Amino acid sequence: MKQKKYKRIDKRLITEGSQIDFNLFLTNETKTHMTLFLQSDSAVDGNAKVRLREIETLYISEEEEDRYKVFVDKQLQSIARNREISTEQKARLVYEKATEAIDSMFKNPESLENVKNVQPVVNSFIEIILNDSSAVESLMKITAHDYYTHTHSINVSIYTLSLGAFLGISGKELEVLGMAAVLHDLGKSKVDYEIINKNGKLTDEEFAQMKHHPSLGHEIALALGITDERILTGIRHHHEKIEGGGYPDNLKGDQISQFARIIGTCDVFDALSTKRSYKDPMTSFESLQLMKQQMVGHLDMDIVNSFIKMLHKQGKS
Ligand SMILES: [Fe+2]
Repeated sequence: MKQKKYKRIDKRLITEGSQIDFNLFLTNETKTHMTLFLQSDSAVDGNAKVRLREIETLYISEEEEDRYKVFVDKQLQSIARNREISTEQKARLVYEKATEAIDSMFKNPESLENVKNVQPVVNSFIEIILNDSSAVESLMKITAHDYYTHTHSINVSIYTLSLGAFLGISGKELEVLGMAAVLHDLGKSKVDYEIINKNGKLTDEEFAQMKHHPSLGHEIALALGITDERILTGIRHHHEKIEGGGYPDNLKGDQISQFARIIGTCDVFDALSTKRSYKDPMTSFESLQLMKQQMVGHLDMDIVNSFIKMLHKQGKS
């Protein structure tokens, strides 16, 4: 008989009252065999929750991984809605799950499934941002301060969703905006790894290569079957400049979609406020000041001003 394989899972997702449709296992001290902790098709009751506190790690059988994934998607959103879990904890959990989903997306950007797996993450961010006035602040505390493409994508999504909500974007449209933000740098998966992770400023030639990422991302999105213009332009035009001179299409003003302008603003803010190998991070205040004073022809100042108001409101709540 084929040996069963097990996969470690995040036990914080097994909350009291949830219904599981897969078996949960735990292992003995010497990790030589698995025993059943909770059977499929049962509810996690108070008793199970108490026992769960004593257990370090839970496992599922790999055969049931698909069912577990569906469960995680549903759980993330109900955790985000749960008033008994602190904002800090929620933010941490959702951020961690986002990192996992976006990591796999960048590893294999041609997989439609990987891209689809990102939508529940976006939706759970929306859930906590809309329902909790201190969520953005909590999320900002845990946003990674070192720059990597995947953490940058998450940070930009958080800022974009908060700003979008502040500007009155809601419902399905906010979900689309979140997807556009998550996907905005997808094209970087096609740029040389050494250029993306270079320890220092890029040479002109390297920068020329780097500049292909918006159109490469646009191509990947098209190949995946994404047809929503708001997502496609969000990816392709997030490096365009309001007075022209940006890339790849040298657009101006209204030619740049609202989504691309929002994402472009949040992109710059995250780039300035995170640490790069060749520069220290700026504080939020310094970043905003630079954006306002030195990026007038580059960014849409109405959007920058709204971004400042949104962060200010967050700080006060
Ligand atoms: Fe970019």
